[in-house]
Amino acid sequence: MANTAEQKRPIDTAPPHYTGKKEVYVREMFAGIADKYDLLNSVLSFNQHKTWRRLAVSLAKPTPGSQCLDVCSGTGDFALDLAKAVGSKGRIVASDFCEPMIRNGLHKMLSAAAPVTMMVADCERLPYSSNSFEVVTVGFGIRNVAHIERAVGEMARVALPGGRVAILEFNRPLPCWYKPFIDFYLFQVLPRIGGLLSRKEAYTYLPESMKHFVSREKLSETMQGAGLTDIHVRDLNFGTVCIHIGTKPLTVKATE
Ligand SMILES: C[S@@+](CC[C@H](N)C(=O)[O-])C[C@H]1O[C@@H](n2cnc3c(N)ncnc32)[C@H](O)[C@@H]1O
Repeated sequence: MANTAEQKRPIDTAPPHYTGKKEVYVREMFAGIADKYDLLNSVLSFNQHKTWRRLAVSLAKPTPGSQCLDVCSGTGDFALDLAKAVGSKGRIVASDFCEPMIRNGLHKMLSAAAPVTMMVADCERLPYSSNSFEVVTVGFGIRNVAHIERAVGEMARVALPGGRVAILEFNRPLPCWYKPFIDFYLFQVLPRIGGLLSRKEAYTYLPESMKHFVSREKLSETMQGAGLTDIHVRDLNFGTVCIHIGTKPLTVKATE
């Protein structure tokens, strides 16, 4: 799973371009692009974002009829894929702390394969009972939260014992000769297209937040720290997209 070159690679420590509280910046930024978010997702990922979410759902293995949660759900695409997997006897809860993002996704839930409840909630303080959901997912959200440990801890808390937590997120590309091309796309092309279709600032934030995000190894450690076990990491697109899956143990180990 861990790759030595990746472990040795220094993490860029340059400060992010925003000032003030990250959660306030992030909520306002997504509120400002909410109506264009789906379009930009498809254009900027060459429509691959749908395949990435579908793969994450298939790796997380929700069973038909189960209840699952998607946090930082935005306009709800992950919830739709979870709904397909659990079917009409299942139930999906999708929550995000940015109300305009949810509002722009509500209409899509009308054709969901399972009932989907969308609600406004902060993933660092989830308003759900512990041990409630068979699968808990987050797609391209964990990079944006202010306190990753708290969010992952909350996801693990609300997962059922034996259930899974799945994190789909961008990451730094694995070392390769084409890394300069990836960087060129991320830092030069993507902000320009984002700026043409929406607010440029939001799509300058995207590559910057990728640069500052924790390594895949650190994210695995954070999941372990939240009590999850059997962590699997799947790299996609030269490592620029990563799926982490962890399992909540059936029994909690007795502390010595
Ligand atoms: C890049 S969007 C991802 C949306 C969706 N999951 C997807 O796959 O397209 C990130 C989302 O995370 C949400 N977010 C960031 N921090 C959050 C937090 N602490 N609690 C809840 N949502 C948060 C933002 O409001 C935004 O909608």
